[in-house]
Amino acid sequence: MPQNIYDQDDFFERYITLDRQVKGLIGAREWPQLRALLPDLNGLDILDLGCGFGWFSRFARENSAASVRAIDFSQNMLDRARVMTDDEKVTYERADLDELILPENQYDLVFSSLAFHYLVHLPNLIKEISKSLKPSGRLVFSIEHPIYTAPSNPAFLVDDERKKKIWPLDDYRKEGSRTTKWFVDGVQKQHRTIGSYINIVLSSGLQLTDFIEWLPTEEELKVYPASEDDGIRPKFLLVGAMKC
Ligand SMILES: C[S@@+](CC[C@H](N)C(=O)[O-])C[C@H]1O[C@@H](n2cnc3c(N)ncnc32)[C@H](O)[C@@H]1O
Repeated sequence: MPQNIYDQDDFFERYITLDRQVKGLIGAREWPQLRALLPDLNGLDILDLGCGFGWFSRFARENSAASVRAIDFSQNMLDRARVMTDDEKVTYERADLDELILPENQYDLVFSSLAFHYLVHLPNLIKEISKSLKPSGRLVFSIEHPIYTAPSNPAFLVDDERKKKIWPLDDYRKEGSRTTKWFVDGVQKQHRTIGSYINIVLSSGLQLTDFIEWLPTEEELKVYPASEDDGIRPKFLLVGAMKC
């Protein structure tokens, strides 16, 4: 069984205070660049993996998607998503993405925001996604950037001499589980190198179309001064792929 941290009350109470959960997609700093990777959603059948509160699922329907199947493992997340959604064309399901079997040739777009870096069996899931896409169907996902997930202790060090913050990239090539503190101790994520992510996508028969290391723009830095750290090391990776 995977860790289900989003159903742990002390974690969840703090997670729901994040801007991206209070304000939705506009509260997510990477959203403008992620949105730019999406095709026109009009009439599309969409799968939203690790849907959380369903912010993207509702956005897709507001932008004329035909249907959205949204999946998450957390009962807390799904309960909120269902309360916030009044739309029979959006269906929420509880399932483990690490074990997911998908139908063939079903979806025009598979979307996932910040869920894949939790998965142990991501290569299997990407193969399932590839199978489930219609010809020319798209996969668009975001993850925590491998430079962000790599360190054994993901906290800045300070170079006193040069008065600079240093991101400690000590364990980049060591793939696998990382246990970190994020609101609470013991949050588990999976680290993979950039090369592994690329090869997982390519070996599933998808063509890579977009690969963006999210870094805050000068404008964003003015609005969110706290993003300064994200300019030192990228926090998110945004990926687009297409079924040939
Ligand atoms: C950081 S949240 C992102 C939620 C939403 N996509 C968003 O961007 O607001 C990660 C989500 O992935 C879900 N998740 C993590 N591991 C999962 C798994 N093995 N199966 C299904 N969902 C999972 C969590 O329950 C959580 O809702």
